[in-house]
Amino acid sequence: MDTIEREILANRVRTWILEAGRMIRDKINNPRTISTKSNPNDLVTEMDKEVEFFFASKIREFYPSHLLLGEEGYGDSKINKKATVWVIDPIDGTMNFVHQKQNFAISVGIYHEGVGEIGCIYDVMNNTLYSALKGSGAYRNNKKLPPLEKGKLSLNESIVAFSHRWLMRNRFVNEKVMQQLVHDVRGVRSYGSAALGFARIAEGSLDAYITMRLEPWDIAAGKIIVEEVGGITTDVRGKAIGPLDSSSVLCAHPDIHAFLVKQYLRRAIKRRAR
Ligand code: IPD
Ligand code: CA
Ligand code: CA
Repeated sequence: MDTIEREILANRVRTWILEAGRMIRDKINNPRTISTKSNPNDLVTEMDKEVEFFFASKIREFYPSHLLLGEEGYGDSKINKKATVWVIDPIDGTMNFVHQKQNFAISVGIYHEGVGEIGCIYDVMNNTLYSALKGSGAYRNNKKLPPLEKGKLSLNESIVAFSHRWLMRNRFVNEKVMQQLVHDVRGVRSYGSAALGFARIAEGSLDAYITMRLEPWDIAAGKIIVEEVGGITTDVRGKAIGPLDSSSVLCAHPDIHAFLVKQYLRRAIKRRAR
């Protein structure tokens, strides 16, 4: 994709994501229709569907040759990775959306021939848009984010995000190693939105985000944005994540990424983890 094509497309994405965000804010206090998906805590609302439908209609009208990989079923059934693919999570952090009415985001990543070209994450209630175009840096609203400074960060001065569930006996990681990690870092957070985890790493307010399973729509935009400031996104074993893959994720500041893999995650991971 050439620079001009990327710029024009990114402007469209920004316009639509802000419009979708306004739609959500306007209806934030409406009664919700909530259903569950894979388990009783995996929620979906009428708003998740409405937002994805909004993008699906726009994409089909303006870019009929593009494909959509979305969480809520309005996307294309067959995805050719060589095409231009919009990877959309209409609401990332649905549990926060339902319970807190904040701390959720719309996440839109665009891949062309398997390359991440555009990433946008909109923190709807804070009206904060994180965006990146491949090779042109990342932005928080209209302000360019500085590259993550190298050679200064140690793990004991880092804030790391992961689920508190990994501190109890579980199928995926050795809880003792994770407890040691809690002991060794400055602070631990658990935000409930993967997209906002990536966004916080990009802006430097979080140093690492670890999770055992994400879907392509959770990863697509965040990976592009983080890479533009020099952050690293791999699976928890340190291996590259392919475009549009589901995967475990370690997204981190470059100073601590390899150390987290070697000293903690390779030792913690049980065979079942991805
Ligand atoms: C979820 C959130 C959550 C993460 C889950 C995701 P959803 O997305 O990002 O933080 O731990 O794995 O599924 O369901 O709210 O779009
Ligand atoms: Ca999600
Ligand atoms: Ca979602």
